[in-house]
Amino acid sequence: MFNLSGYQTAETRWSRLGPYYAMFPMDFAFNTINEFSNKGDSILDPFAGRGSSIYAGAMLGRDAYGIEINPVGWIYAEAKLNPAPKDEVIKRLEYLYSLKGYYKKQSKQMSAFFQMCFCSDVLGLLLATRKHLDWRNNQTDVTLMALILDSLHGNIGTSLSNKMHKTKAMGEYYSLNWWQKNNLAKPPEINPLELLLKKINWRYQKGIPSHKTQSTVVLGESSQVLKQNNKKFSLLFTSPPYYSVTNYHADQWLRLWLLGGKDKRVQQQSKNHGGFTDREHYYNLLDSIFSHSAALMTEKSVVYIRTDVRKFTKEVTLSILKKHFPYHRLSTYTKPISQGKGQTRIFKNKPKNTGETDIIMTN
Ligand SMILES: C[S@@+](CC[C@H](N)C(=O)[O-])C[C@H]1O[C@@H](n2cnc3c(N)ncnc32)[C@H](O)[C@@H]1O
Repeated sequence: MFNLSGYQTAETRWSRLGPYYAMFPMDFAFNTINEFSNKGDSILDPFAGRGSSIYAGAMLGRDAYGIEINPVGWIYAEAKLNPAPKDEVIKRLEYLYSLKGYYKKQSKQMSAFFQMCFCSDVLGLLLATRKHLDWRNNQTDVTLMALILDSLHGNIGTSLSNKMHKTKAMGEYYSLNWWQKNNLAKPPEINPLELLLKKINWRYQKGIPSHKTQSTVVLGESSQVLKQNNKKFSLLFTSPPYYSVTNYHADQWLRLWLLGGKDKRVQQQSKNHGGFTDREHYYNLLDSIFSHSAALMTEKSVVYIRTDVRKFTKEVTLSILKKHFPYHRLSTYTKPISQGKGQTRIFKNKPKNTGETDIIMTN
């Protein structure tokens, strides 16, 4: 059994980069891959999130292939799979910091939300980051972007922002009211260079994780990407979004702003970027992605899906998987989730009947 608790190795330090909703616990990802595949096998995750399965696969010598539609998740995945050398990342950060004065004027024109969330030095650095980091094409830039996104919001003193949840960015009006009510109307004065250098030094202190696999995560919509693929996989290991639980794009709106997105929380952007609240669309999404995935699996493949225990998500997922893997034997495993555990439990007042169920199919 793998135990990735603690932060004593490069592998564990990088494994948890990037707060993300409904992410796999790292021990679970390592143990599942270890049990259901062999070194050299190929693994597919069409809902890769922050790349937990892909990272675990690469560390265990599997060629792991992931697809993720949300750039925030993709950036974390890409950075932890192939982090750029530390000195290059620091050089780039220092360059952005040197530009912050230039962006200060622009920062004064930002909305009340931004003025209360970040002090002017931080806002200057963030505007320079937004403008200059070529995170889609450059490994140094994607690594630095992942490290900045990781610290963008959270507790005062350990993040760049005024107090905010680390995983989910609240809307502007909610935040403004909350800060005012809690005597936090002035953002904390933070030296962003110092804070980020401290975080970077910690992350690199044990080195960087290494692997010799072809593992990769593609930024895109899974049905489209899978359609153009002719790879073969022996393990399908994934966790689809749960019906009507979260909106990955709206909840990450502040990080998406840093990547060039809108400067406010937007509920529904398009059918693939929303909260999965339409039953028919949810069914069609899973049907299409699992149908394309099934076409790429070897005959003796294993399917391991972790999903929501609640009725609609579970029943839809089971019926679609039976349809596309008709000759696989199926078993399910539902573990009661204790308070505070589980991959979707980030807020204290969650309903009690939440938890995950694992669907395992073998041939
Ligand atoms: C439950 S999360 C997966 C979390 C992942 N197991 C991890 O450890 O980070 C589901 C992910 O599916 C992504 N997603 C939803 N629809 C998608 C689509 N059509 N194509 C690709 N990714 C999609 C969401 O953005 C979200 O990151």
